[in-house]
Amino acid sequence: MSAEFERMVMPPSPAPVVAIDGPSGSGKGTIAHRLASLLGFHVLDSGSLYRLLALAAQHHGVGLDNEAALQVLAGHLDVQFRQGPDGDAVIILEGEDVATEIRSEEMGKAASLVAALPAVRAALLQRQHEFREEPGLVADGRDMGTVVFPDASLKIFLTATAEARAERRYRQLLEKGFSASLPALVDDIRARDERDINRPIAPLKPADDAIVLDSTRLGIDEVMARVLREIEQIPELKRRLK
Ligand code: DC
Repeated sequence: MSAEFERMVMPPSPAPVVAIDGPSGSGKGTIAHRLASLLGFHVLDSGSLYRLLALAAQHHGVGLDNEAALQVLAGHLDVQFRQGPDGDAVIILEGEDVATEIRSEEMGKAASLVAALPAVRAALLQRQHEFREEPGLVADGRDMGTVVFPDASLKIFLTATAEARAERRYRQLLEKGFSASLPALVDDIRARDERDINRPIAPLKPADDAIVLDSTRLGIDEVMARVLREIEQIPELKRRLK
């Protein structure tokens, strides 16, 4: 087969994906954004979709256990992701910027509840696949490497103890102007881990071919350096580094 004929008959290979999974507060979001900017890739913060669905449910008076209604809502989620002038994410849900509102602990907990429902996960799958565009995608979540992008070029599973993650979340919340209690955060993180790990569908767990990084004693720069070492091993990603 000539190269030109092959190009005409073979479907183009999909854009490369880096999957970054891990529990709440493990630093996935920060690493995903830094990496995407170094690679010039798009970013999918999949947790934000579950958070947005939980908020939309609240707006429409839909119970967080009403799987059939949540499935419909997930299929029609009116949301746009943009970047603000300062580079911050702008997330418009039904015409309103909710980027800050969805980051609250309350929405995190509500997201974890709706995320345990199989019909909700199925309804959000296609939407997540749509983020896979050239030149590539860095996707962060719980099941990026196991379910949503099992063919990802690199899979990182980032973890840390519940105490270390609660402390990071505590500092983040205070910086964003939310009030917080550290012991309550440790309890919440444990409860969320429990729910995310033990749900029957797409549970939080490393893919068999994931690189597991424990960031309990590592700063974000050290984690980033380790991730970059992995990127250097993969030619299709290495050549994209800026
Ligand atoms: O990453 P996050 O804290 O924003 O995610 C909020 C919740 O959404 C999390 O507790 C579990 C759920 N989630 C999920 O089930 N699958 C994903 N890919 C991302 C998030």
